[in-house]
Amino acid sequence: MADLPRTHGLPDFPWDLLVPAKLLAASHPDGICDLSVGTPVDPTPEFIREALARAADAPGYPTVIGTVEVREAILQWARARGMVDVGMDGAIPTIGSKEAVAWLPSLLGVRAGDTVLVPEVAYPTYDVGARLAGATPVPVDPTRPDTWPDATMVWLNSPGNPDGHVLSPTQLRAALAWARAHGAVLASDECYAALPWQPDLVERGVPSLLDHDVCEGDPRGILVLYSLSKQSNMAGYRAALLVGDPELVRPVVEVRKHSGMMVPAPIQHAMAVALADSGHVQAQRARYRRRRELLLAALGEAGLENDPDSVAGLYLWVRDPAAEEADSWALVDRLARLGILVAPGDFYGEAARGRVRMALTAADERIEAAAQRLASLGREG
Ligand SMILES: Cc1ncc(COP(=O)(O)O)c(C=O)c1O
Repeated sequence: MADLPRTHGLPDFPWDLLVPAKLLAASHPDGICDLSVGTPVDPTPEFIREALARAADAPGYPTVIGTVEVREAILQWARARGMVDVGMDGAIPTIGSKEAVAWLPSLLGVRAGDTVLVPEVAYPTYDVGARLAGATPVPVDPTRPDTWPDATMVWLNSPGNPDGHVLSPTQLRAALAWARAHGAVLASDECYAALPWQPDLVERGVPSLLDHDVCEGDPRGILVLYSLSKQSNMAGYRAALLVGDPELVRPVVEVRKHSGMMVPAPIQHAMAVALADSGHVQAQRARYRRRRELLLAALGEAGLENDPDSVAGLYLWVRDPAAEEADSWALVDRLARLGILVAPGDFYGEAARGRVRMALTAADERIEAAAQRLASLGREG
């Protein structure tokens, strides 16, 4: 029999391990507060749904590279964020950014024998994408390029999932200098960029790898990923984008010509319309800010601590300062007894052990219930 199927050396899907805690949390008399996943729960804005419906008549195949409309909208959005102008050949829509993260190494020609550097505390799909390409993922501290081994590709994620850390322009410049010195592609996943909380970030915006003062006007070797899932409540649309060095976008488009992965035409139109509007993004951020403040206050009352460097994004990155050893699962269990489900740090790498990730993506009523339950934890001592 042929030696198939093979699973690319992928790890077991970690979320299955959370089922017992989920059952425990669901047995709470007032129901579960599920803060374990970052899936948006607020409605997709009406004007985006209308744009989708207006473009519903789509009998022909969409172009692989994307419509002029959506590529211009991407460039306009990038300009408004202070990124360098990469031109029309440097901007394409993608089907979601999870898919882009998982397949980008393969699309760029990364292969067996290559090394892909991934943040040591990270969304697991960077590791998965390296493995799908047959390459070796190596976890590194994204702020310490001086410690990185040689590699063909490097992933950055700022603001970070799960830790909410934001790389400064200096840190981004250091990563870029390293990548250029080593001839590595530098890919930056910036899908939480619209969700800064710290006042200086709110004022100046979250730094991007493509900012003028970071890449000094030169996008060579750089790809930035962005997603409309979080900023526009469009996770169900699978609407995301790649912007950067046209020489790196070109092979992605070439492989897509052969293999598909075209973004559906109605989604491309809805994306263009959403990217042109910042009002709904601000409104959504205000909702998350209220939820974040409620949970932060309740965490304080419960004697738990959010990472002080968690300053942007959709998650709190929580630990119990009184715990004798770093044990994420003990904290998951303690919170599940209150009917609150969170994700253990262990899902995000060895270096994340001891913390849990608490998402802001639940309805206001569930966030309020979680806050009350946390506060009661503090009263129990
Ligand atoms: C860091 C990071 N990148 C990418 C994604 C995927 O987003 P989407 O596939 O919805 O665009 C997520 C989703 O949670 C994420 O946390």
